[in-house]
Amino acid sequence: MERLAVRCACAVRARGAWGRAVHTHASVPKPYYVTTPIFYVNAEPHMGHLHSCVLADVLARYAQLRRDGWSTEGSGTVQPLFTTGTDEHGMKIQRVAESQQVTPQALCDRVSERFRDLTRTAHLSCTRFIRTTESEHAVAVQHFWRHLQAQGHIYLGEHEGWYAVSDEAFYPPSQVRSVQRGDETVHESIESGQRVEWTREINYKFRLSHFREALIEWLTQCPDAIQPRSMHERVLAEIRAGLSDLSISRLRQRLYWGIPVPDDEAHTMYVWVDALVNYLTSLGYPAAACPPGWPADVHVVGKDIVRFHAIYWPALLMAAGLPPPRTIVAHAHWTVNKAKMSKSKGNSVNPFEAIDTYGLDTIRYYLMRIGGNIGTDADYAPVLLEEHKRKYLQGQLGNLLSRILAPKIQARLAPDTGALVQPAWTDAEAPLLAALAALPATFDRHMEQLELSKAIQAAFHALALANELVQHTAPWAADAQPDAIHRCVFLAMECLRVCGTLLTPVMPDAMTAMLDTLQVPATQRTWASLAERPRALPLRTQRDKIPPLFPR
Ligand code: MSP
Repeated sequence: MERLAVRCACAVRARGAWGRAVHTHASVPKPYYVTTPIFYVNAEPHMGHLHSCVLADVLARYAQLRRDGWSTEGSGTVQPLFTTGTDEHGMKIQRVAESQQVTPQALCDRVSERFRDLTRTAHLSCTRFIRTTESEHAVAVQHFWRHLQAQGHIYLGEHEGWYAVSDEAFYPPSQVRSVQRGDETVHESIESGQRVEWTREINYKFRLSHFREALIEWLTQCPDAIQPRSMHERVLAEIRAGLSDLSISRLRQRLYWGIPVPDDEAHTMYVWVDALVNYLTSLGYPAAACPPGWPADVHVVGKDIVRFHAIYWPALLMAAGLPPPRTIVAHAHWTVNKAKMSKSKGNSVNPFEAIDTYGLDTIRYYLMRIGGNIGTDADYAPVLLEEHKRKYLQGQLGNLLSRILAPKIQARLAPDTGALVQPAWTDAEAPLLAALAALPATFDRHMEQLELSKAIQAAFHALALANELVQHTAPWAADAQPDAIHRCVFLAMECLRVCGTLLTPVMPDAMTAMLDTLQVPATQRTWASLAERPRALPLRTQRDKIPPLFPR
């Protein structure tokens, strides 16, 4: 069973990350399915959380663009599925609620609403916001547990070891160090720096060790399963070094805030088992044993939670007879003065305030352009953010649009722009023409490799060439030739159409506004249209002022 599940996921992955030609049954294509981690409700959302969300949103929107025109007979286009939500159980939430003297449910309701607000404020295209306190989720988790138990993957045993409540994670003694805090000697996880405490209990355990071979086989057969590659290698090495069985329950007398173990009220489920199953609940599990949409195309996760998604979760899925996810993308962290941004460090940046100050699309661009290199941490720096806004968003995109749509220049164009379809290009235009011809494939390659920053840079390279051409042609100059003005404006518009279409997933509002201003018809905003011979866009006849794309 385990082997079959592994093969199923890999065969599908090999056919393209955007799910072209992937079918769950005879003629129904599998929807592209992307997830964010579900967020702990112990604290308000910060910029790091927004990063996971925007990354997933860009992937969902890009999948939609990539699949355009790809519809099921009679039942319309298959929309990507994109889920996010809040992780509300566990010792961490229980203790925070106790310390704030509120009920855990009241804490969850309040903070979960803030995360839901963030999905609205950031214009996320999520199709489901899940809360692990929903009764539907408890049904799914208990069903999952029962299935594993019936297959003999769960047993009752004694567990002894270090546990970090802040990470909700167990650590082996080799991963723990003792440190002096004032007069006190405390123990902390070397990996996360969080305090650990010694626990000894009768717990239910999952036979993780039985899945060592199957996990190795999966990761060997699917070398792209974990991105970036260095993370894939690290996970593989960890599995090869050996896996211990995983404690998956806590005594209810200690942990009451969680889903009860079925048929044993004395135990509460380990919060990570509860949380991971959200990816199935969101698809309607257990109504269907393998719900439509599964396996996930991409689980977006921060690098701190890779072990849970790349070892525990695939093993749990294999135990349940389900294929592992196709890709797990581990993004790096946002830091502030090189320290990880987090509530506990008191250095977190409020995403609502940042969006209010700089504008949503500027923030989305900045997160993906600077933090979109999945392997490296990025320092959050307002100075750099402002520089990017000025130099690239206003200076390259906004400026190009307003220059070519300037009434003075538009007035110098002949009304019949259709004649421009096959102009005789000159050497000055050649670099931009070549860049535009290559851009969709280059952009797509970077997106397939989940290197969003590189994809964005490729689009801005073309925009820089378009700006250079406008500068070189100087269509505003008294001696500029009508033919040259035509070619220049036509190419610049074409560049804005192609870049605007490709960048819509990153900056949906600004790029839609730009394409509307350019009067680009819907048929010219599709993936297929990017490869077609460009057609002239209508001249702008109205003389009204164009609102700035990225206001100061
Ligand atoms: N609840 C778990 C996830 C369960 S998924 C089944 C959890 N929650 S979290 O709220 O702590 O973190 C959620 C996500 O935010 C993680 O992907 C984490 O890496 C990300 N980030 C938290 N701080 C971050 C930064 N400073 N920078 C970038 N992302 C960060 O873990």
